[in-house]
Amino acid sequence: MKILFVTSEVHPLIKTGGLADVSGALPAALQALGQDVRLLIPGYIPVLDKLKDKRTVAALSVFAGQPEVRLLSAMMPETGVPVYVLDAPQYYCRVAGPYQYELGGDWPDNAMRFGMLSRVAALLGSDASPVAWQADIVHCNDWQSGLAPAYLQLTPSTHAKSVMTIHNIAFQGNFDRDWLAPLDLPQSCFDMHGVEFHGYLSFLKAGLHYADRIVTVSPTYAHEIQSTEMGYGMQGLLTVRNGDVSGILNGIDEQEWDPATDKYLTLRYDSSNLAPKTAGKLALQQRLGLEVDEKAPLLGVVSRLTYQKGLDMLLECLPKLLDGGAQLAVLGSGESDLEQRYLQLAQRYPGRVSVTVRFDEGLSHQVMAGVDIFLMPSRFEPCGLNQMYGMRYGTPPVVRRTGGLADSVTDAKAPDGTGFVFDEADPAALYRSVVRAIECYRDGKKFRSIQLNGMRRDVGWRGSAQRYVDLYRTMA
Ligand code: ADP
Ligand code: GLC
Repeated sequence: MKILFVTSEVHPLIKTGGLADVSGALPAALQALGQDVRLLIPGYIPVLDKLKDKRTVAALSVFAGQPEVRLLSAMMPETGVPVYVLDAPQYYCRVAGPYQYELGGDWPDNAMRFGMLSRVAALLGSDASPVAWQADIVHCNDWQSGLAPAYLQLTPSTHAKSVMTIHNIAFQGNFDRDWLAPLDLPQSCFDMHGVEFHGYLSFLKAGLHYADRIVTVSPTYAHEIQSTEMGYGMQGLLTVRNGDVSGILNGIDEQEWDPATDKYLTLRYDSSNLAPKTAGKLALQQRLGLEVDEKAPLLGVVSRLTYQKGLDMLLECLPKLLDGGAQLAVLGSGESDLEQRYLQLAQRYPGRVSVTVRFDEGLSHQVMAGVDIFLMPSRFEPCGLNQMYGMRYGTPPVVRRTGGLADSVTDAKAPDGTGFVFDEADPAALYRSVVRAIECYRDGKKFRSIQLNGMRRDVGWRGSAQRYVDLYRTMA
């Protein structure tokens, strides 16, 4: 089958979160299963810089009145998955993030930037494909490609089937209805049974309405988003389309995230010898300015600092944990209020708390390997990848029982336990669970078995990529 995987970020070219990891690994896993899969991504500056041997394969005029853009073709570094780059410098060649400018505000023309991406995706799945390749399946990811299913359905020609994967339903791409005309959408689709969502043009709603199938990144999240509390307004539509909705748990890139071969580690290890992990902990403590102390339980966080991740709850119980002898290493960035509160905590606890506010791929691997316990107390978590990285690195995670965390971590009470799971989204429940993890760490033997269970668990992509292939087959 010919599959076009449309995404707004992909590792190792551009990344703000887990979508990039999935976009880097899932297409490669599909390719390994014999599928003809190609990526479509916007030509941001780092994408153009990092991709070698680009060729122009088409020049397109996507929307009336907009400058002509180019479609480039290249290969992904490492995996060799073919990639189409939408080269529209006026829209994508900007310093700062893919969605936001330096101060954290959304680019004001995001509707046009990602409407264009969606439109080109639909073109590549239609008779009018500008290249000698036409997708059978257009696989869209999050709101940034949400209009593609709409364009496909609204085009009279033979066209591809579409899949809409929801990585996070809280991000919806809702814009003023004035964008309909510039995006060449008929006024008639501005309807409850179309792209309209509470008076706005919603890219995600469009995807959920027009896509042939809807997938989300874990089975539990597939249920959760059909409820009022967690559906962010989309629960009604999802409930109506229940038969088309499924949950496929993300995997992880087992080459990229392997403590035995990790290029960011100097002290590598595997389940047969964890001694280098301990040495790595001491090196990390030194590097981060923490007291070098093998016995102090070192807690770790690598995360976007947002409400979703529940890290405000963690702030509330940290003083007690630190006073009890724990240390904390945080790598993250996001909401400035949370950044400030974590930085203040680090000042209050010199040698015990280290906070690094930036995006740092290498450090994220070193923290994952060097800390003893990984914390992920998310309020909601569609899938979550870090808890799986933690398990693979012998760093048992403490997680809340929600979404993909519930589906991927087994509590330590079970013989095959891989982490510590709590239920209530409140600081007291989180605190009890971290204390349980620390007591287990101090006890030693049981902790070792939890580490080994996690390291041996299959969290790769093979099974889940096969589930996507099975889904595509039911549609083709
Ligand atoms: P989400 O996509 O909601 O942010 P995931 O757990 O699915 O959560 O994926 C987060 C990804 O982003 C992981 O690869 C994680 O290591 C990475 N990450 C998050 N914050 C940082 C950071 N400050 N520096 C480096 N990597 C980060
Ligand atoms: C989103 C979710 C996260 C998920 C990732 C990849 O960013 O917040 O839970 O792991 O997408 O699917």
